[in-house]
Amino acid sequence: MSRILIIGSEGQLGSELSSFLSKNIEHDKIVLSDIRNNSSSDLTYQKLDALNYDEIKKTVLKYNISEIYHLVAILSAKGEQNPMKTWDLNMNSLFNILELAKNKFIKKVFWPSSISVFGETSPKNNTNQFSVMEPSTVYGISKLAGERWCEYYNQRYNTDIRSIRFPGIISSNTLPGGGTTDYAVEIFYSFLNNKDYKCFLNKETILPMIYIDDAINSIFNLMKENKKKLSIKSSYNISGFSINPSMIFEKLNKINESFKIIYEPDYRQKIADSWPNSINDEYAKRDWNWMAEFDLDRTIDIMIKRLKTKYND
Ligand SMILES: NC(=O)c1ccc[n+]([C@@H]2O[C@H](COP(=O)([O-])OP(=O)(O)OC[C@H]3O[C@@H](n4cnc5c(N)ncnc54)[C@H](O)[C@@H]3O)[C@@H](O)[C@H]2O)c1
Repeated sequence: MSRILIIGSEGQLGSELSSFLSKNIEHDKIVLSDIRNNSSSDLTYQKLDALNYDEIKKTVLKYNISEIYHLVAILSAKGEQNPMKTWDLNMNSLFNILELAKNKFIKKVFWPSSISVFGETSPKNNTNQFSVMEPSTVYGISKLAGERWCEYYNQRYNTDIRSIRFPGIISSNTLPGGGTTDYAVEIFYSFLNNKDYKCFLNKETILPMIYIDDAINSIFNLMKENKKKLSIKSSYNISGFSINPSMIFEKLNKINESFKIIYEPDYRQKIADSWPNSINDEYAKRDWNWMAEFDLDRTIDIMIKRLKTKYND
């Protein structure tokens, strides 16, 4: 029996992906791993350092792994605090997985890229798949380099590495891990705790976002698509909806008029200003029928519902 391995399973995306997979495939076909000592899930868990090739290979052989979801990275805002560590983790953990695929220990890989591959010289609106990419953060540089390496391995070694450039992900399972779009999750926690929210971006900053269920569906659908249909060998643009902080605030304020927001932009403002406002995802739509289902209104409804359930559990 071949199995799936998630590396970075305890983070924002990993915890939601493992919970989705556990509802859709047999539990004994899923193995979780992370640098943390324990998992919050009941699935098989192995502590693993994504920088240790031999350790990953041993896990792959032990559990007969055929597919890896490699979700380990230091994100955009946190990355700026330690550029060299970010470059080392983001690149060398990816090389470990690419080499495992090249050496045929695994058949298929999912690795997420990000809209951070774009920069100030990219078009702001409806930014397309092949727009100019001159990222200004170490995170963005590592994602762009990672994308080029994924394409290189796919073309040169015929590996099957699949990737999506995610916008900011809005989810409720865990707090986000240090990105520039984190405000769009944090604001819900303040709202439900009846606290004012101090927003680190200014009210007009428009950024592309996606609700987690759409993000997970995109991974699932891309991974099950026939490889021959995938014309993009690096990473696919996808789009959810575009918002600024005041758009979320105004909707939350309608629900509870006493909820307040204070805008105190910090170093993350500059990163946000270098990213697109909206993304063109025509290749994902054409090649694997991508379509987002959640807009801002649906996202707000479901975030409040899920966080309330979480608090009451
Ligand atoms: N969250 C977003 O909004 C977003 C947007 C675009 C792309 N992405 C990408 O999705 C992926 C997952 O992001 P996330 O938000 O879940 O990040 P996260 O920071 O929440 O999770 C990353 C996980 O990796 C683990 N980890 C760190 N170092 C490790 C190591 N050496 N070995 C094993 N595990 C290690 C951490 O413990 C953590 O659980 C990343 O590649 C990120 O760039 C995320």
